[in-house]
Amino acid sequence: MRIDVLTIFPEFFGQVFDFGIIRRARLAGIVEINVHDIREFAVDKHKMTDDRPFGGGDGMVMKPEPIFAAIEHLLGTTDRNAYPSGTKVVLLSPQGKQLKQAVARSLADNADHLVLICGRYEGVDERVNETLVTNEISIGDYVLSGGEPAAIVLTDAIVRLLPEALGSDTSAENDSFSDGLLDCPHYTRPAEFMGMTVPEVLLNGNHAEIEKWRGEMALDKTKRNRPDLLTGENGDM
Ligand code: ADE
Repeated sequence: MRIDVLTIFPEFFGQVFDFGIIRRARLAGIVEINVHDIREFAVDKHKMTDDRPFGGGDGMVMKPEPIFAAIEHLLGTTDRNAYPSGTKVVLLSPQGKQLKQAVARSLADNADHLVLICGRYEGVDERVNETLVTNEISIGDYVLSGGEPAAIVLTDAIVRLLPEALGSDTSAENDSFSDGLLDCPHYTRPAEFMGMTVPEVLLNGNHAEIEKWRGEMALDKTKRNRPDLLTGENGDM
């Protein structure tokens, strides 16, 4: 997979992709991540990337020209109907469809080239959305000062699901949300710590019992912390 991030703050991404699973996936050639400065695609002599909103109001709006130029440079077209089938251009914004594990899974399985546009200020000129963007994604119901942290979250959630990214000793199958439930609690040594013990069932080596206990604990935790996941009240996964 190839991921291109478009941002006016490229330095923001400094070392974020240099750790753990993402680093390993990059070194193994499973994913290539490039960060591009939108300002380099600005057309006027002041390298402007934002301007005042038509109709008035607070804040600034990101101009369309530099973003169109960046997409033309990366994809050779600014017509989303002409993108290759595995290419997705994602706008990170609070107006987007909410990121869920199933969204990350679908992009990991079906996309081989992602372009992530990080919005800033009050928003991005809507013509970007109308013409370039295939998926508008929000990472949750809160407003960030820009799409950059959201692009990092989305990248992390997707890359760890790419085949081979987790390595042979781990798997995403038991992750929270992969089966609609939160993950069960985990323990490691020592078996007794400051008077607190590990549940007996985990020590007895009976794998059927352990799996049963884990299922019950996952359900318990989901009931307590995220009952909406059980009733489906929070929309689809
Ligand atoms: N930009 C600002 N807030 C955001 C959010 N919640 N998700 C994605 N991008 C954003």
